Amino acid sequence: MPDYYGNLDNPGEHYYEKPRNSKRKWIIVGSIVGLLAIIAIGVGVGVAVSHKGKDNRSASASKSSQSNNSNNSSPVTQTDPNDPSTFVKDSRLKQSFYGLAYTPNGSQLPSCGNSLQDVIEDVQLMSQLTTRIRLYGADCNQSALVLEAIKQTKVNISVFLGNYPVPTDNTAYTRQRDTIIAAIQTYGTDNIAGVTVGNEFMLNYLNANGAQDPNSAVGNTGAQLLIADIQDTVSAIQALNLNKHIPVGTADAGAYFNTEVLSAVEYGMSNVHPWFANVSIDQAAAWTNEFFQEQNVQPASLLSNHPTMYIAETGWPSNSSDAGNESNGPSTASNANLQEFLNTFVCQSNTNGTGYFYFEFFDEPWKDQQFGGVEGWWGLFTSNKTLKPIEIPDCPSP
Ligand SMILES: *[C@@H]1O[C@H](CO)[C@@H](O)[C@H](O)[C@H]1NC(C)=O
Ligand SMILES: *[C@@H]1O[C@H](CO)[C@@H](O)[C@H](O)[C@H]1NC(C)=O
Ligand SMILES: *[C@@H]1O[C@H](CO)[C@@H](O)[C@H](O)[C@H]1NC(C)=O
Ligand SMILES: *[C@@H]1O[C@H](CO)[C@@H](O)[C@H](O)[C@H]1NC(C)=O
Ligand SMILES: *[C@@H]1O[C@H](CO)[C@@H](O)[C@H](O)[C@H]1NC(C)=O
Ligand SMILES: *[C@@H]1O[C@H](CO)[C@@H](O)[C@H](O)[C@H]1NC(C)=O
Ligand SMILES: *[C@@H]1O[C@H](CO)[C@@H](O)[C@H](O)[C@H]1NC(C)=O
Ligand SMILES: *[C@@H]1O[C@H](CO)[C@@H](O)[C@H](O)[C@H]1NC(C)=O
Ligand SMILES: *[C@@H]1O[C@H](CO)[C@@H](O)[C@H](O)[C@H]1NC(C)=O
Ligand SMILES: *[C@@H]1O[C@H](CO)[C@@H](O)[C@H](O)[C@H]1NC(C)=O
Repeated sequence: MPDYYGNLDNPGEHYYEKPRNSKRKWIIVGSIVGLLAIIAIGVGVGVAVSHKGKDNRSASASKSSQSNNSNNSSPVTQTDPNDPSTFVKDSRLKQSFYGLAYTPNGSQLPSCGNSLQDVIEDVQLMSQLTTRIRLYGADCNQSALVLEAIKQTKVNISVFLGNYPVPTDNTAYTRQRDTIIAAIQTYGTDNIAGVTVGNEFMLNYLNANGAQDPNSAVGNTGAQLLIADIQDTVSAIQALNLNKHIPVGTADAGAYFNTEVLSAVEYGMSNVHPWFANVSIDQAAAWTNEFFQEQNVQPASLLSNHPTMYIAETGWPSNSSDAGNESNGPSTASNANLQEFLNTFVCQSNTNGTGYFYFEFFDEPWKDQQFGGVEGWWGLFTSNKTLKPIEIPDCPSP
């Protein structure tokens, strides 16, 4: 059994080499499995990220009628068509998620196709599910679009902005840094929770250089590239002289954290995917929790900078574009299993105090087109923003 498989995230499309095969990202990184089951979870190492939560909106949401999504033209109804803050709440949605993983449709270079109107709809829907979202990259103006949408909808969402650097092309990093800094200058810091520099950078670097251990010599060489970008972002934010501190972190596949990188960030976000790890749905939530605690939270707690650890992505696919990829060992893509993962993971993790970003808000057809299999089918919503036939758990997130 593997300890972890990472899935594809959201790169600009040129950030990926052509896949050698559909599983190229899902590299086995070792067989430390035994540990996962055996080691007891240490007490007190949980991610302390609780907030005084209150859920003003859910009360008013319950009486409102459902939005009518039978038509693609408008997934969300506004009582005032000119005021995005007047959107009608959907009683099926509950603010139960700690966070959501999100990429606006059409945010891959070179052919950006996103729009403010589209992002406003997404934010209207997401604000009924969570108070936190994370982005993966900053191309196609997505940082500004999301912050503008939050402003216009007047919702309580804070965003972890993302910079998706490419090991072989440092202009990707600087280009995104500049748009992130510009967005902070335009929109201020109120709705910014952090800036994440790196998305599976170490995983990609190791794959490209034929290595597996993130703390090997090869790993440490790649780590220096990422750390330089992280420190550059820290400096660029400091130079703004903001009156609120904005933490800088990184996100990677769960088994690919390099210790030197973790020592250089304030938070780490970890992709933990039971489906890719061939874990059956019955064990998926518990496996995810154990993996995260043992592989990420405990090691991070030993570092002197004590980075806060989050689950960057976890979820379950509802479908596959071909029957052959519907199952990965005992893990099977289906709506029923998506529902089961929601039922067993979300409320328990809220109680556990785990900070997680559910993967993901809606299906991303570009991933299906490029990679097939289950890649395009991880959303709570379909790509046209219809809620899948699932019931959202009802347990307010902290
Ligand atoms: C949504 O619209 C369809 C088609 O007009 C209609 O049949 C259906 O009853 C509507 N559903 C709701 C919940 O309003
Ligand atoms: C769907 O869109 C058409 C026009 O494109 C409109 O006539 C119809 O009323 C819409 N239906 C719903 C349920 O919104
Ligand atoms: C939206 O997506 C759902 C599920 O994929 C589908 O049933 C529905 O027909 C789609 N609606 C439109 C207008 O494309
Ligand atoms: C997503 O964006 C692309 C353009 O990048 C567009 O062609 C497509 O229709 C959009 N999908 C949806 C469901 O709006
Ligand atoms: C906004 O959400 C945060 C949690 O992300 C919470 O701490 C805060 O109280 C909320 N603010 C309002 C006004 O509801
Ligand atoms: C997006 O970027 C351009 C500059 O390239 C800027 O003028 C615009 O205001 C930005 N924000 C939005 C929400 O489009
Ligand atoms: C934490 O949540 C997981 C599900 O993600 C559950 O399996 C586990 O028992 C929970 N742990 C505690 C201590 O509540
Ligand atoms: C699941 O994927 C298949 C293959 O792309 C597609 O035909 C089918 O409509 C999808 N099912 C749903 C519920 O979207
Ligand atoms: C899984 O998907 C890939 C890419 O779409 C395809 O090449 C492969 O044949 C599929 N595997 C199976 C077992 O069907
Ligand atoms: C996961 O299951 C697939 C078959 O669906 C198999 O090809 C793969 O080797 C399995 N991986 C592990 C590590 O068991």
